Amino acid sequence: MTELNQFWRRAWDRYVQLAPDADRIHTLLKKNGETDASLVNDHVAFRTFQLPGIGRHELGAIFEKWGYKLSGETLDFPEKKLKANYWIHPDRDQPKVFISELELGNFPADLQDWIRGLGEQACKRFPKLNENIFLEPSWDPIRAEDYERFYPKSEYAGWTGAFGIQVNHFTIFVNRLKTFGSLQDLNTFLKSNDLKLNQAGGEVKGTPSELLEQSSTEARKVPCEFAGGVKKEAMGCYYEFARRYTLPGSSELFQGFIPKSADKIFESNFEKKK
Ligand code: NI
Repeated sequence: MTELNQFWRRAWDRYVQLAPDADRIHTLLKKNGETDASLVNDHVAFRTFQLPGIGRHELGAIFEKWGYKLSGETLDFPEKKLKANYWIHPDRDQPKVFISELELGNFPADLQDWIRGLGEQACKRFPKLNENIFLEPSWDPIRAEDYERFYPKSEYAGWTGAFGIQVNHFTIFVNRLKTFGSLQDLNTFLKSNDLKLNQAGGEVKGTPSELLEQSSTEARKVPCEFAGGVKKEAMGCYYEFARRYTLPGSSELFQGFIPKSADKIFESNFEKKK
């Protein structure tokens, strides 16, 4: 197994702790006739903060040693105060790497100070960045009261504070599945197995004419360890599904992202108001 594939396996093992549904979905899909070769990832998404030492471009550069190249396109999510970029591998069986970054400028000073403190810890732990930053704790466990205080102000900051800089989600590349002809068929299968799909912006985001259709499960609460050994539940991660279409007049699949769809996919992480 290559170093890159080993990295993805370790990142997956960590991810399924936060997204137990993802593991279950693999089992269900294999029972339905899918194989390791047909379960390919379209992209893997990471979250970070706009801070020196851990910014999205610095994290993305880690993947360049494995042949990844930065796509020129920057994605902007002004409502969520996020910017994102993605990296593409020449081997199309390797997932795109999607890294978003929370811009701190518009947040209250206490939230900014808290995040800067986390960033400083990460820089001390990983003075020379390498892939271990995605596989090991980025900082000491945060205090439960900080999570409760800041989560309502920014779900993104709360999640990243609680779990650190690691995979937020993997994404099944629906085109490669052998037993489903469409994303809609896959969604029907998942729902018939009692999985909840994110309905924000409609179950399927995007259309064939936009060249990308996406859906995702809803994240659920998972155990999380906070400072002082305090154990509480926090919102974990979702699993995403993407089907791509060919660019007009070409046999190449569209490789980009659609900000208005991704904006709604981000909400799969949101705790549902009761
Ligand atoms: Ni995604």
